Amino acid sequence: AEINTKAKFVSTSPQAIEEAGARLRSGHLVSFPTETVYGLGCHAIDPMAVSRVFEAKERPLTDPLIVHVNECEAALKLWNASANGTDGEIEQEALKALTKEFWPGPLTIVAKASPEIPDIIMANTGFVACRSPSHPIARALIGASGVPIAAPSANKFGHVSPTKAQHVMDDLCMEDVWIVDPDMEKESSSDEHVICDVGVESTVAKVEMLSTSKGRVSILRHGAVSSMEIATCLEKAGLSESFEVKEKMQATGEEVSHVAPGQTIRHYSPNVLSYMVSQERYSNGDIELSDEELNLLKNAVVIDFGKRLSSFKDKALAYKDLSAVGDSNVAAAQVFDTLRWSENIDGAERVFFPEIVVNEDQMIKKEDALILAVKDRLTRAASGVVI
Ligand code: TXA
Ligand code: MG
Repeated sequence: AEINTKAKFVSTSPQAIEEAGARLRSGHLVSFPTETVYGLGCHAIDPMAVSRVFEAKERPLTDPLIVHVNECEAALKLWNASANGTDGEIEQEALKALTKEFWPGPLTIVAKASPEIPDIIMANTGFVACRSPSHPIARALIGASGVPIAAPSANKFGHVSPTKAQHVMDDLCMEDVWIVDPDMEKESSSDEHVICDVGVESTVAKVEMLSTSKGRVSILRHGAVSSMEIATCLEKAGLSESFEVKEKMQATGEEVSHVAPGQTIRHYSPNVLSYMVSQERYSNGDIELSDEELNLLKNAVVIDFGKRLSSFKDKALAYKDLSAVGDSNVAAAQVFDTLRWSENIDGAERVFFPEIVVNEDQMIKKEDALILAVKDRLTRAASGVVI
């Protein structure tokens, strides 16, 4: 651990995981890796523990948390589908089909909550989000705690999400939190352990009934699981007549933040002004720059994708490509670490990324899920500003 910090790193030894599980059960905080990003975990059914998470993150109480469980059955108990009579039946079928198909993995499902769920977790919406992570350390810790674990991403609210133990320490060093660090177990670098290999947060899908026989699944956040895969799963379960699958509306304003809490446009921002360079400007090769822009670039960091802004390379203060060959799996795994890198470059006054254009008219295919997720995170980092 570091000098003058309250947070501390703990290892992944079986004994350390047992101790961390006991700590969670007793209402205190433990940050742990998942296949998406690092979470800041607490006992989900203990409102005091949950309020500690909101305080540590400085997160507004209007932004609900995801409950992490190992087994589908545990989530089905946290949801209240069966209590709704006949309409509960197809809702339950849909929830069973989705959990069976995508869990463990990077899909969060939001559905009507059962009465014992604390309001604070759901931000008083009456709907609770559940997810079963696939990462072995996350699963071991949930198992050791013996309780459902609420875990938002382990960053300060509005900052870049963490994908490494050190990222969590950088944001939460003054908080009373244990940070599970796989690097403490071995001498070797973290490349040995695959942590946060997806690199962006889970897809969030909300299941709700519109009448006794009709329901809707809305995508509230883009992640590795696509809307097309969700539609295919419902179709295989014989539910395509009963459920429509809807892509979320663009998260631009108040109205949307109500429908999709926590998805306001300013999110994931590095502590440096960030902008997207419009596709129009980079699409025909060399980008013409005014003298003023050239000057700005001297104090700017460029985070590229697929060499779209390669002509900025030797004009900028620093330059990194998320994936020069344009591989969206690699870009997703790198994006948050690279945003954090950009804010630590000495003299950096601005960050530029390319605007990424994805055809969102149709349902999103599996192979486009992560590029859309990266586009989404960069758009938020730049607060939607295109130049
Ligand atoms: O990949 C992930 O999901 C990570 C890891 C740690 O599992 N967790 C994560 O949590 O990203 P967080 O708190 O940073 O994002 C949770 C988001 C909320 O901002 C909101 O958009 C959505 O999930 N959400 C949670 N509960 C909801 C609810 N009851 N209704 C609608 N959306 C909800
Ligand atoms: Mg988050």
